[in-house]
Amino acid sequence: MNSNQSQTRTIAPIKSLRGEVSVPGDKSISHRSIMFGSLAEGTTRVSGFLMGEDNLSTWKAFESMGVTISQTGTEALEIKGVGLNGLQEPGDVLDCGNSGTTIRLMSGLLAGQNFFSVLTGDKYLRKRPMQRVVTPLAAMGAQIWGRDGGERAPLAIQGGALTPTTYASPVSSAQVKSAVLLAGLSVDGETTVTEPHLSRDHSERMLSCFGAEVRPFDGGVSLTGRPRLLAQEVVVPGDVSSAAFFMVAGLITPGAELLIRNVGINPTRSGIIDILVAMGGQMEMLDIREQSGEPVADILVRHSQLKGIEISGDMVPRAIDEFPVISVAAALAEGTTTIRDAEELRVKETDRIDAMVSELGKLGGLVEGRPDGMVITGVEQLNGGTVTSHGDHRIAMSLAVAALSARDSVTIEDVACTETSFPGFWALLGTFN
Ligand code: S3P
Repeated sequence: MNSNQSQTRTIAPIKSLRGEVSVPGDKSISHRSIMFGSLAEGTTRVSGFLMGEDNLSTWKAFESMGVTISQTGTEALEIKGVGLNGLQEPGDVLDCGNSGTTIRLMSGLLAGQNFFSVLTGDKYLRKRPMQRVVTPLAAMGAQIWGRDGGERAPLAIQGGALTPTTYASPVSSAQVKSAVLLAGLSVDGETTVTEPHLSRDHSERMLSCFGAEVRPFDGGVSLTGRPRLLAQEVVVPGDVSSAAFFMVAGLITPGAELLIRNVGINPTRSGIIDILVAMGGQMEMLDIREQSGEPVADILVRHSQLKGIEISGDMVPRAIDEFPVISVAAALAEGTTTIRDAEELRVKETDRIDAMVSELGKLGGLVEGRPDGMVITGVEQLNGGTVTSHGDHRIAMSLAVAALSARDSVTIEDVACTETSFPGFWALLGTFN
């Protein structure tokens, strides 16, 4: 592997993939550790924190609201919590960068804070839908405005008193669910959110560890407002969404045997493991344990002949960030893989259906887009070529995995975006070539 310029990477077919890797901390859990640590009383210590650009956006936003956050190690930090009512009005616009989790969760939190704030982000984030959080927050009495009638950032929020709500979310989205729950923290009473299928439950688990009363039930969750949150020690596991790139790399590379250490396997996130096993992947969960309320394991992956499967329904939110790399596995599997009910992929960092159809197509992959998914027919081997990330970190890394077993080198353009979730990705991949 060599780097032509900082924005472009050329990946040569890999010779072997044997050994061990550790991936950086979970992005979703890292965001929440700063948010809940800031709202707690006392000093929260976080280890395994992901120093990715998305999480640094959350870090800076809380510093702008008067929270002291200090780095105490390469992946460790301390947050001096200010309590539920201790945040201060930020003196400037809060820049959420590329991070949907930052802007949507903070909208919920700021709706109940007694001050004015403005949230914005990069050109990709400013295109993403925000009405999905604006609608339930407005129903709670929030004063919140955005471009396009509230659909696009920048969002301006005049925080104030909110009323309890029961919100039936039409989408299975942890960002929507968490935005409403965070607004519910300031409410005198119960806040309930239901969703079609269970989305990741890190907010529920972590809020509960910090002392909030959170009651999950079949189809939703309720939270009692105005809890007393108390500082915690948070140990962040490796991100299963980052591990997914190495899972698929291990499965598609002849002779590969790879141990991926310390991966979060929360059942609301582990759809990728179930999907790859259903495709015939040899994967073993070793030393399953619990850390800070989250299940964790080491995962052993061996080269396997994969076969096409159907993916739909409740499996979709359980693997929502992994479809770009699942499409790579499917492009090299025997038979056809059909992905349905996944229209949410169209409103991620980029339209991930269009992006994978076009980029895998350039490498000889047979991928057809559908309004709510993809139909992928496996080929024996992908070709070399030049592809682009569309500015999306997970597209860039998925294409890097596709390159590992291609006939010739693959050049990937616009790769700086991998810093949002996986700093060190290229160096780690490079250790195997
Ligand atoms: C996230 C929720 C998911 C996911 C994103 C992180 C979170 O988004 O795609 O990468 O941390 O809550 P949606 O809520 O839009 O599904």
